[in-house]
Amino acid sequence: MSNNHKGYLIAGNWKMNGSLDKNFSLIESIKNFNSYDKKNSEILICPPDLYLSQVRKMLLDCEITFGAQNVSKEKVSGAFTGETSSFMLSDLGCAYCIIGHSERRLYHGESEEIIAEKFLRLLESQITPIFCLGEPINIRNEGNHTQYVISQLENVANIIGIDKFKNTVIAYEPVWAIGTGMSASPDQAQEMHLLLRSFFSESGIADTIRIIYGGSVKPINAKELFSMPDIDGALIGGASLISDDFLSIYESSLN
Ligand code: PGA
Repeated sequence: MSNNHKGYLIAGNWKMNGSLDKNFSLIESIKNFNSYDKKNSEILICPPDLYLSQVRKMLLDCEITFGAQNVSKEKVSGAFTGETSSFMLSDLGCAYCIIGHSERRLYHGESEEIIAEKFLRLLESQITPIFCLGEPINIRNEGNHTQYVISQLENVANIIGIDKFKNTVIAYEPVWAIGTGMSASPDQAQEMHLLLRSFFSESGIADTIRIIYGGSVKPINAKELFSMPDIDGALIGGASLISDDFLSIYESSLN
């Protein structure tokens, strides 16, 4: 099984990092990269919301895609201080939005019900969700990681319906690998990606979903990860803030 007809997705999750100046130089370097090949591998930049307009303006004359790191679960505009709606993200031209990241689950108490609502809001606004899941270290040490991750997926699929996952992106991000420098091995990641893809076999949409890996993806491990049949790209935190590293990871997806 695999899905490579859609090409790889190389997504930079800037998290709460950046400034007008830093963003400018980072985007300039990415734009000046001359081996960009969108047909085989797409670059996606997800800055903090506040900088979406800056990034959008800088990317107007090129094919690099941008997206958001979060969205409100609310359906209509109104009295939701500090929130950003899916309509606003789409108004600005966001093609993708990350949801269910472990940092949001952990620090903002995002439940699977909330994540499911956000998923639906994005689809209503024609934004592709990047749905993150992954097990913490204790769950892996107990050997319960496959069950754990499948139930994270099932809990959301049971609310929204499995067909809603068609043409979306799932990011497998083991919590123990995020920001630790300790990436999952290519075999560990492949095992989980295959498991996730198999979940969709019966519904016939398995090959429409890009399953990307996140958790300490660096230039040194990217090529091996991308050589796995069910790894369709990467969600990159730390290394997406260093243009040489980000572009080197991108290049690893091309060959
Ligand atoms: P990292 O973050 O690449 O810094 O491990 C990945 C993520 O949280 O998406």
